[in-house]
Amino acid sequence: MDMRNTLRFLHRGQVRSLANVDPTQTVLRFLRETDGLTGTKEGCAEGDCGACTVVVGRLQGERVEYRALNSCIMFLPTLDGCHLLTVEDLRAPDDALHPVQQAMVDQHGSQCGFCTPGFVMSLFAAYHSDLPPERQPLADALAGNLCRCTGYRPILDAGIAALSDKQPDQLAQDQSEVIRQLREIAPTDGLALENAGKHFFAPATSDELAALLSDHPDAQILAGGTDVGLWVTKEHRRLDTVIYLGNVRDLQTVTETPDAFEIGTMVTYTDAFDTLATAFPDMGELLRRLGGLQVRNAGTIGGNIANASPIGDTPPPLLALGATLVLRHGPDRRTLPLEDYFKSYRQTALAPGEFIEGIHIPKLGPHDELRVYKISKRFDQDISAVCAAFWLRKSGQKIEDVRIGFGGMAAIPKRAHQTEQLLRGAAWNEATMERALPALDRDFSPLTDFRSSAEYRRVIARNLLRKFFVETTTSSPARVLEYA
Ligand SMILES: Cc1cc2nc3c(=O)[nH]c(=O)nc-3n(C[C@H](O)[C@H](O)[C@H](O)COP(=O)(O)OP(=O)(O)OC[C@H]3O[C@@H](n4cnc5c(N)ncnc54)[C@H](O)[C@@H]3O)c2cc1C
Ligand code: FES
Ligand code: FES
Repeated sequence: MDMRNTLRFLHRGQVRSLANVDPTQTVLRFLRETDGLTGTKEGCAEGDCGACTVVVGRLQGERVEYRALNSCIMFLPTLDGCHLLTVEDLRAPDDALHPVQQAMVDQHGSQCGFCTPGFVMSLFAAYHSDLPPERQPLADALAGNLCRCTGYRPILDAGIAALSDKQPDQLAQDQSEVIRQLREIAPTDGLALENAGKHFFAPATSDELAALLSDHPDAQILAGGTDVGLWVTKEHRRLDTVIYLGNVRDLQTVTETPDAFEIGTMVTYTDAFDTLATAFPDMGELLRRLGGLQVRNAGTIGGNIANASPIGDTPPPLLALGATLVLRHGPDRRTLPLEDYFKSYRQTALAPGEFIEGIHIPKLGPHDELRVYKISKRFDQDISAVCAAFWLRKSGQKIEDVRIGFGGMAAIPKRAHQTEQLLRGAAWNEATMERALPALDRDFSPLTDFRSSAEYRRVIARNLLRKFFVETTTSSPARVLEYA
């Protein structure tokens, strides 16, 4: 197939066309080492601290959507067709500070300043969104930016001040020209780069993707890169052939049918949020705590499943909801219940050359309940020690059906089949719940690791079943505690 061999993106008013780039060079390294733009900082190089935050615009129909992303784990070619903005771009032509920068100065939002460019860029992305100028939404938007000097109160004050009095800034004034330039470089064709024996492909359709993967079954699939990026920056792995899904528009759709949601594999957490949080409020709470906003703006549910981590957050609720996957190999598709996807530690049912195309999530029926609990050391932006999800269908006081998904309790995300069997058909009362508790020990033999001990995990699993019982039987449906 014919593919373009030049990466194109918009940066500082110019279309950059680059043919000979290292496909796994990060945007951060490119900015600092190639372009000498050192305003963007490196703190952790693993997506945790937000010091490297840049803002990336993508054309969505008639407008450009601007989002904060971590440049430290983002490979340069993933900018294809995008508008890149860094802290250097915020100053107006008359040298005036951008309103978010001025607010940081006025509210004393910076001390050592190392984190400051990242905060400024996250605030700048918020300035170009419809985020209300309120403390909690701003705290959520800034949870992926860490500051160890100033403290967050003045930074949040700066955000509230800037977002309360938005004026059209330089970016707003330049929008029609930006849209024109982005239309010219829209990646409607495939991209194929080669550098020093490394190959990078960015197909534009899922048919092209399927054909490429059949030709290169050993290629590394790249979606949002929030796992894969770290393999390069932290583990120094060499990825010889990368196939990127980000330009495949037909994998970025969310479709609602009368009884299910069909989520394309390349739908990011941010783009799936409204649909999932409305249909499954507990899943919304879970997603709100998955990474920081920069991670949710890049990371995908498809990537979370494919990565097959035993502590990935979306598999437990998806197992509980009875989700199925659409897997594709060349022109052939098969559907697979999610629980059959996970085989053993990090081993999955995916065949070479096959990829996840979409995720089918059944809706809740009128007598169904879904509860999801994430247990982590820190509330925001932390990996789970245990994640549990309970789906219950009641008929009167009886449990007609139940599915329980756990993460962090085994080598794979796993259903609690023995516990479910004990509950199914029984009356949903305290005696049934107490009888079911020991079955959790038969379902799971958790490990001790640096997140928690095996014993802690066992106790937590039991307590979460108790919590679920209380929450689904108390007449005022209290969320008993934030933490179990
Ligand atoms: C700072 C930080 C915090 C995080 N916090 C959390 C957290 O709280 N909870 C959590 O669960 N995760 C967390 N993660 C992990 C990560 O964000 C998720 O696993 C994410 O969903 C991965 O999706 P991605 O699109 O970035 O995948 P990528 O990194 O692009 O890919 C991950 C894996 O999936 C494969 N893959 C991707 N798409 C497909 C496909 N369609 N078909 C076949 N294979 C595919 C890739 O080849 C790779 O093996 C965090 C990551 C970071 C950096
Ligand atoms: S350097 Fe810490 S998130 Fe990128
Ligand atoms: S001002 Fe120093 S880390 Fe934030």
